[in-house]
This record gives sequence, structure tokens and C-alpha cells, in this order.
Amino acid sequence: MKKIIIDTDPGIDDAMAIHLAFAHPDLEVVGLTSIFGNVHVPIATRNALALAEMAGSDCPVAEGAETPLVQPQHPPGYFVHGDDGFGNSGVIEPKGGKDPRGAAQFIVDSINAHPGEITLCPIGPLTNIALALRLDPSIASKTAGVVVMGGAVETPGNVTEYAEANIWHDPHAAAEVFATDWPMTLIGLDVTEVVRCTPEDFDALEATSPRIGSFLNRAVQFYFEWHRTKPHYAHGPFEGCFMHDPSAVLAITNPEFFTFRETPIVVETDGERIGQTARASQGVPVKVALEVDAQAVRAAFLKFTSQADSQRG
Ligand code: BDR
Ligand code: CA
Repeated sequence: MKKIIIDTDPGIDDAMAIHLAFAHPDLEVVGLTSIFGNVHVPIATRNALALAEMAGSDCPVAEGAETPLVQPQHPPGYFVHGDDGFGNSGVIEPKGGKDPRGAAQFIVDSINAHPGEITLCPIGPLTNIALALRLDPSIASKTAGVVVMGGAVETPGNVTEYAEANIWHDPHAAAEVFATDWPMTLIGLDVTEVVRCTPEDFDALEATSPRIGSFLNRAVQFYFEWHRTKPHYAHGPFEGCFMHDPSAVLAITNPEFFTFRETPIVVETDGERIGQTARASQGVPVKVALEVDAQAVRAAFLKFTSQADSQRG
């Protein structure tokens, strides 16, 4: 079992990734940490608590940063994820409360308690990860891996021509994280826009997992509508959705689904290209996913998430 901490802004595809991770037999979710991005951080924390409870997990949920490190905050992605972060499928009030520690402190404490064992899986802006590194730079050598959903290296961005949303929300934090010498993997739009699921896939999930599958199927309808109607920089509208955040979780359990190239990455922190993740000739090498077996990722997501009801709860 691999121990993971998911740093998340739930978020419809975040909810998919989190339920996949809880249901996956090879993963132990030791905690969730919340971040702004798709929603403001109090909603992200509430949703993370609700997702853990739905999955029958009592893992800690620690609240993260409310704002980016340097730049003014961008509006949240309510137009993609709904006002409640779950596609306006309805607010779920959790019964339990958040961890007394902030996200950065929780990350530092967890890595120090299990040196060499924890993989970080940030699927939102990288503010909490940068703050954890500032709090205790020694975690860099004690982290098993950092598998980030974010960025776009050979493909256009999704909020601007250059920038992917998670990096665009806090490019200065991303720059600090990419400059750190630790084992980083980047699961960006180059691969996550290739991995897609359809309405039929989520109907099937609901049939096999009536509790968690039906929650995801309700939430994803709003996400489908966005993919059906909104322009995308690299893709036309289509019926279905990109599987951004679940792809990062599956890159931890099944790296063989992806083809990687090692390259330093520089994050643009100014000007028209702010938020761009570009190859650099010097710096810390990052494993960048450039190709994916999309059907293998889709099938694994559906297989494990369809078992979500029977795993717990
Ligand atoms: C990323 O941004 C958010 O909208 C998604 O949850 C995903 O993490 C994709 O660009
Ligand atoms: Ca996300």
C-alpha cells in the first residue's frame, strides 16, 4: 500500500480522484488537505470532509491557504464546478471537523512521521505544497514522490493559451515547488485531456455503486455541460469530460500507463505567459507525462471507483 496525501480543491474531478483513491486497494489515503481554486477554501474543506465521510474514512482533513503567495486571487472556477463545487448537486454538510493543524503543518508532520513513505498528490494550486517546503525544507528528501496534476508542456493551456488552471491560480507557488530537488512527476493537460469518460461510463458507475457512483453521476452532469458548450484551447466541445485529477492518482499506482520525458520545468510568473510550464535547459529534472494509454486509465478509474460502495461506509 502506498501512503498518499491528496491536496485538493474539490471540485468535480477532484471528487472522482478522491473516491478512486479511497477505493483503490494499493493506496492508503493518510489525509486530505484543502486549497482554493475550483472553489474558495472553506468550501474546499467542507467538500473534502464530506468526501472522506462518504467513503467511510476518518482520515484527517487539514485546511489550506486561502490566497495565493504573491498575486491577487483569481475568481474560483464555479462556472466549471458549480457554486457548491459538486456541480450544484447539493451541499453536503459533514458531521466531523477539520484537523486543528493547517495543511502545510499537516503535510510536514505526516512526512516527518513516515520518512520516505508518503507520496504527495496535489490536484489543485500548489500553495500548500510551497508553504510546507518553506516550513520544513527537509521534507524534500523525505517525500517518496510528488505527483502533480497541473501544467501543459506541449499542449495549450485551459485558462489562457499558455496556462493550465492549477498553475495559473498560483504560479509563484508552482515555481517554488518546481525548483525544489525532489522526485516530481507532472500529469498535465498533455495527457489529462486525452483521458475522457462519457455519460454512459458514469451511468454504469451509478449502477454498480449506487451510493458513491450516483453522487458522482449527479455532480458530473454540470461538468459535462461545460465540456459540451465551452470553447477549449486545444479541443472542440464534446460529449463527456476530461479526467484530469483521477489521472494523477492512477499515475501513482500505474506509471506504466504513461510515457514520461525527464526535463527541468520553468514556471512563468509574469506577463502574458504567466502560469506557463515550459521545458528548460537547466534545473531540477521532472518526469513529465507526454503520452498516455487513455483507455487503460479510463478502465482502471471505472473498475476501482465502481467498487467504492463495497470498500467502506
Ligand atoms: C485542473 O483544474 C481544475 O478545474 C480541475 O479540478 C483540475 O485539477 C484542470 O486544469
Ligand atoms: Ca482539482
